[in-house]
Amino acid sequence: MNVIIVHGGAGTKRDLPERKKVVIKAVESGYKILKEGGSAIDAAIRATVILEDSQYFNAGTGSGLNIEGEVEMDASIMTNSLECGAVACIKNVKNPILIAKLVMENTDHIILSGKGAQRFAKIMGIRKYDPKTKKSKALYNKLMRRIKGGKGTRYFPRLPDFIKYYNTDTVGTVAVDREGKFAVTNSTAGVILKLPGRLGDTPIFGAGLYANEIGAVSATGHGEGIIQLCLSKVAVDLMKENNAQKSVSIALKKAKKYNVRCGLIAIDRKGKVGWGHTADAMPSAYIKNGKLTYKDWV
Ligand code: GLY
Repeated sequence: MNVIIVHGGAGTKRDLPERKKVVIKAVESGYKILKEGGSAIDAAIRATVILEDSQYFNAGTGSGLNIEGEVEMDASIMTNSLECGAVACIKNVKNPILIAKLVMENTDHIILSGKGAQRFAKIMGIRKYDPKTKKSKALYNKLMRRIKGGKGTRYFPRLPDFIKYYNTDTVGTVAVDREGKFAVTNSTAGVILKLPGRLGDTPIFGAGLYANEIGAVSATGHGEGIIQLCLSKVAVDLMKENNAQKSVSIALKKAKKYNVRCGLIAIDRKGKVGWGHTADAMPSAYIKNGKLTYKDWV
């Protein structure tokens, strides 16, 4: 079938021209793998690594910092045969998605978190890496000044108010290969200024991502709301009766009803794609039959 769709997060309109370039590079690199007979897993991983390395998204290098100024990242992968792996709240690694894949392929577990995930990464030969950048530290300092200036409280209960100004920019990919196998990946550092230890939807199967024989979905946006709605599983279940686009639209209607700012990308078992969001923008692209389609969704 060879279809791949990539998103760069449902968030702000910031850096859209630059993010467009990276999203297109990611989707083209993944598609090349599919065209050469590679697997959906390899294609989705390749696209996600490009997004994680670009410094333009809240995933991998350049990720947003938590309230303590640390980068804690989540990443996940799932296939149509329900194989899955994830890491949560992992620090000091370059590509969390590669460790999620190692969890899937090498352990009897599905999710490893925190220090345990870091220890596992070390055992698997992954080198230590600081994903902070000048830009991510500057944004953190700016936001902290806002909070210290009275724009929040000690426990930051107004975090949802900030989400509309500062993106979550999770990245995600859904791919289907020539054998009709699906793979879906997600990677993020979560909502900026989150409390340490907070898990969003990204590593939660059924919430941030889901895949089975009917289709595959990746979600982005406000993790708490996406978890409450089990949004990716809802969208995959809708694909029993509807195509990917209709399923995404119905699921997003539900998200809107609950004021959840989010986005979804999907592929169904006929290779049809679905995409959409309830936020300000979602740079996304897909390639089907060799044809690239890009949307900022502003
Ligand atoms: N969707 C990313 C997060 O809420 O962590």
